[in-house]
Amino acid sequence: MTQALTFLGLESSCDDTAAAVVRHLPGTAPEILSSVVIGQTDLHAAFGGVVPEIAARAHAEKLDHAVEAALANSGLGLRDLDGIAVTAGPGLIGGVLSGVMLAKGLSAATGLPLVGVNHLAGHALTPRLTDSLPFPYLMLLVSGGHCQFLVAKAADHFVRLGGTIDDAPGEAFDKTAKLLGLAQPGGPAVEREAALGDAKRFAFPRPLLNQPGCDMSFSGLKTALLRARDALIAEKGGITIQDRRDLCAGFQAAVTDVLVEKTRRAINLYRDLAPNDPALAVAGGVAANQAIRGRLTALCAASGLHFVAPPLALCTDNAAMIAWAGIERFRAGHQNDFTLVARPRWPLDATAQPMIGSGKKGAKA
Ligand code: KG4
Ligand code: ZN
Repeated sequence: MTQALTFLGLESSCDDTAAAVVRHLPGTAPEILSSVVIGQTDLHAAFGGVVPEIAARAHAEKLDHAVEAALANSGLGLRDLDGIAVTAGPGLIGGVLSGVMLAKGLSAATGLPLVGVNHLAGHALTPRLTDSLPFPYLMLLVSGGHCQFLVAKAADHFVRLGGTIDDAPGEAFDKTAKLLGLAQPGGPAVEREAALGDAKRFAFPRPLLNQPGCDMSFSGLKTALLRARDALIAEKGGITIQDRRDLCAGFQAAVTDVLVEKTRRAINLYRDLAPNDPALAVAGGVAANQAIRGRLTALCAASGLHFVAPPLALCTDNAAMIAWAGIERFRAGHQNDFTLVARPRWPLDATAQPMIGSGKKGAKA
């Protein structure tokens, strides 16, 4: 198929209101013509997590501005597009509904094809947008709301190898930061402190490490951290700056060990598919962590895998990934009519065991 496609993408499943325009001519690298992300961090800051009702209202207010800005920045008008892609789940339902309703309206007004995209497919297909990575590749999605290993076999075929059974790692970083009085989002703050700490001082657990498979658990880690913090407070009446650094270092080392060991196992399962050009790609805010990224890079080098880490702005929530996933799905023959529904839960791999629990950013997929 040689047809160039230009899609508008909309993303509103969590706390980022985003719109983007992506163009692709087969045989060339996809082009992100514009990508607008309006964050909501300030709106939720006082609540220690994303408040679904506040998020939904902000999406409803900001989505059309995001679309106008994305079109203006791309230099295109609606008539220059070939389709509209929108995150139809999984996520916080009010936000997803805002996006789906706007996309339907735009599609009805213009006659452009409508393509509903799974948010996780957006993340999982990003390495093809940024690096034209061929299928099948192994994907680690690791953020504040997601944590899973997927084998991406085609734009509409993902096999889930395992994932967290409770919290996502980003959520654990955020809770750790909160317990230690550090700023949100917690990941970068904990990483900065950890760089100055002694990772060996506190022996934090490595949950599920001794169990087979690729499933992970991170909720027990924050309890361990809370206990260690409270023991210090009981002993000395408070914690010192160095205590905090050591707690962060110990916590980060535990998360890293779990992620790296489970990735090693996921690589072994993925290898059974005998890919010609094996690759591991990462997405999600936690993939920004240099300690984690460094260990994954080394693991890939030792295992003969190509390591792909898209630029951070495309690893975290954005609409370029949705526009791109829309193009890929459309090429695979998928299109929706106005019965497209917003789904709070939507596993990418319908054959995999459903996950239990619900993260701070909504239901786990
Ligand atoms: O992908 P993302 O922007 O949003 C979703 O969760 O969907 O990821 C945000 C998460 C937050 O929990 C944040 O604390 C974490 O990614 N994060 C990090 C780092 N930077 C962001 N975690 C560990 N180390 C980092 N450097
Ligand atoms: Zn996401």
